[in-house]
Amino acid sequence: GKYRVVSTKSMPGTRWIKLLTDNDCRLEICTEKKTILSVDDILALIGDHCHGVIGQLTEDWGEVLFSALKRAGGTAFSNMAVGYNNVDVDAANKNGIAIGNTPGVLTETTAELAASLSVAAARRIVEADQFMRAGLYDGWLPHLFVGNLLKGQTVGVIGAGRIGSAYARMMIEGFKMNLIYFDLYQSTRLEKFVTAYGQFLKANGEQPVTWKRASSMEEVLREADVISLHPVLDKTTYHLINPERLAMMKKEAVLVNASRGPVIDEVALVEHLKANPMFRVGLDVFEDEPYMKPGLAEMKNAVVVPHIASASKWTREGMATLAALNVLGKIKGYPVWGNPNAVEPFLDEEATPPP
Ligand code: GLV
Ligand code: GLV
Repeated sequence: GKYRVVSTKSMPGTRWIKLLTDNDCRLEICTEKKTILSVDDILALIGDHCHGVIGQLTEDWGEVLFSALKRAGGTAFSNMAVGYNNVDVDAANKNGIAIGNTPGVLTETTAELAASLSVAAARRIVEADQFMRAGLYDGWLPHLFVGNLLKGQTVGVIGAGRIGSAYARMMIEGFKMNLIYFDLYQSTRLEKFVTAYGQFLKANGEQPVTWKRASSMEEVLREADVISLHPVLDKTTYHLINPERLAMMKKEAVLVNASRGPVIDEVALVEHLKANPMFRVGLDVFEDEPYMKPGLAEMKNAVVVPHIASASKWTREGMATLAALNVLGKIKGYPVWGNPNAVEPFLDEEATPPP
């Protein structure tokens, strides 16, 4: 191969590998055993001759790495993630390195995980599972693991972009919840969906679902019974959920986060969970991954999973393919041709403002 491409991790599937090796690239996949590579580890991988890198969201891609990649003759960096808060875009631009991410292929998978966390938290699934395994079940009881009925409740979505909109649709269609959402951009397609579904329900003699676009995030926090966070992480969304905003939420609300950990002040969240045993959370992401803030692991009203929202086989293979295409496209000068693995997204409009 003419071009040296480095992947900092092994990734699912083989299609991404074939794409590169069939198209003049010599691929090197890092075999380092430790989970998170340091800047020094990656500098060593880049070496003095490297055209493009496929990297991971756990890595700190800033001036040091981009200038090293430039010196090595590189022009492309692909983040195997839709979020790119780990990438200093200005530093990449300054060094003439193009950045790729992997939107589209993970929308439905991530939304499904957020929906799963919502149900798991509302119906206390994990707590009940632990109870069962501990041998504590000694017979059906009227009070045993009573949770929240979602039907007729209000789902609140903060950030109605691709993932937030897909999540909203699942909760509305699946559980007949009403919608309140907050986004700087209007999501007319989501609104039309709720209206049409509401009319369908009404025609069938059922209570119609409704939607409302909130004029502030606080309005969502005050009114919703289940709230899911889908913003991008940047300076404006850091600690979006702080003690004041936690206090606005209903005492029996469910809060879900499958976006980025620092969107929630996790220390404040632990305090809030302690003070409000009926308040429940479902978390896929954490402020200091891989760690949890002290006390969180002991909270029965929290469901916690290790950043697996995009972890379906189809999506991870799609992300790897897209990551390879992004690097290859830049190196070979192809126009960006879109995503061969993507299904027709339910909502193709990009409702989240660019960071
Ligand atoms: C995963 O967290 C992603 O941003 O793709
Ligand atoms: C519960 O199992 C019921 O039958 O109501």
